Amino acid sequence: MNTHMTRRDFLRDTFCGGAAFAATAVLPNVAKAMKPAEQAAHDAYRAMQIPRPEGLLEGEPMLQCPAPDSMGVVLAVTAFSNGFVEVADNPRMANTRRFMAEGLPLAGTDDRVLRMRITGLEPGKRYWYRAGAAKLVHPTGYWTKPSEIVWSPIHSFTTPGESAPAHFGMMSDTHADYAQMARITRKYRELGIPLVVWNGDVPSSLVQTREHIVRTYLVPPENEGFGADTPIAFCRGNHDFRGEAAGRLGEVMMTRLPSERTIEDVALDRNFAFRMGEVALIGLGTGEDKPDWHPANGGFTRFTPYRKAQKAWLERQFARPEIAGAPYVVVCLHIPIVEPWPGANPGTVLEDYAVWQKECAELWGPVLSANRVQLVLAGHLHRYRFDAATPERPWAQIVGGGRGASTFQTLVECKAEDGRLRVTVHNTDAGTIAAEHFFPPRQGKA
Ligand SMILES: [Fe+2]
Ligand SMILES: [Fe+2]
Repeated sequence: MNTHMTRRDFLRDTFCGGAAFAATAVLPNVAKAMKPAEQAAHDAYRAMQIPRPEGLLEGEPMLQCPAPDSMGVVLAVTAFSNGFVEVADNPRMANTRRFMAEGLPLAGTDDRVLRMRITGLEPGKRYWYRAGAAKLVHPTGYWTKPSEIVWSPIHSFTTPGESAPAHFGMMSDTHADYAQMARITRKYRELGIPLVVWNGDVPSSLVQTREHIVRTYLVPPENEGFGADTPIAFCRGNHDFRGEAAGRLGEVMMTRLPSERTIEDVALDRNFAFRMGEVALIGLGTGEDKPDWHPANGGFTRFTPYRKAQKAWLERQFARPEIAGAPYVVVCLHIPIVEPWPGANPGTVLEDYAVWQKECAELWGPVLSANRVQLVLAGHLHRYRFDAATPERPWAQIVGGGRGASTFQTLVECKAEDGRLRVTVHNTDAGTIAAEHFFPPRQGKA
């Protein structure tokens, strides 16, 4: 090996692909002026051999924040690295496109979580991908050299869109009960469900550190690969706002890129509205289960303006032709917005906590009614419940079961087939079907 190369040779060989760069001849002739210390740095960089970083990847990548033309891929690593995704429209991975961890001007290098976003995808199309990381080391000073890229196995996903399968699932309130969660994640893979909404309350109670978030959301024990072939659309529950690390959730659970939002929606980076075949699938955030002025919130929560902003966002979604014209509309949110018992806690009082979210119901309910939404899927109560539509409220609500439920944990499966929307409530504890509900297509104009 040449351990004493000039700066020009070094730059050319390392970064510029040799001949093409040499032809431009734009570098000043500084090689002769290189100081001994600088030459030594170049030599150290060149000489450093980086062994393949075994154990760099922890678990499998997770598909997050799906959209018809983009997909997030998040990867846990064990050392300071840069991240990559390669994507192709075939399982042989011919003609791949490569994406680097998000960030400009610096890519999103990190020692624990690498977040990549694949853009420029076609709606309703199947893709294959692999995620990888290159460990970054410092041969001298701050100079940084990447290892070879360590790749995950190849996985696959289908983008949402009008031509995507009209099929998805909803799980909620997993609350870090990993054995119970594993029964759900096994079930949706067994059923071939192409997209799952994780409808809030992921930690047991709160998150104190980013590492806690990584281990709870990204690489939960007993659930390896749960999001590697199944995109996860995430709606925050009240527990996802708790603990000193809650504000860092976005470092592990991606949001949509700023370029994927309008200026009105810039703060609503987790709301989603896209088609899964005949179904328009909408995600909203109900916030905490106590009012903003409750002492538990420490004076720093702003859920009331957050809910109001989402009302305006929701109205704008129904102005989009693909949402307005969908045969079925299903809205996912965490805290129920229907409660049959008049005395139930509405989330607007000092005592106890919300059983239902009255503020959200009053803001969003009329928009759902006016647009003939058929179904709201909620969590929070840890107990399956069906609230049928009424003449005053033409949409139904299904509440999923959760950890420690007095009944059972659920996976709610929605599938449009045979001219109707079939909703199957799986009891994942017993491996049985707890209930089935059917909804006809939307009729008439709003
Ligand atoms: Fe919960
Ligand atoms: Fe909850």
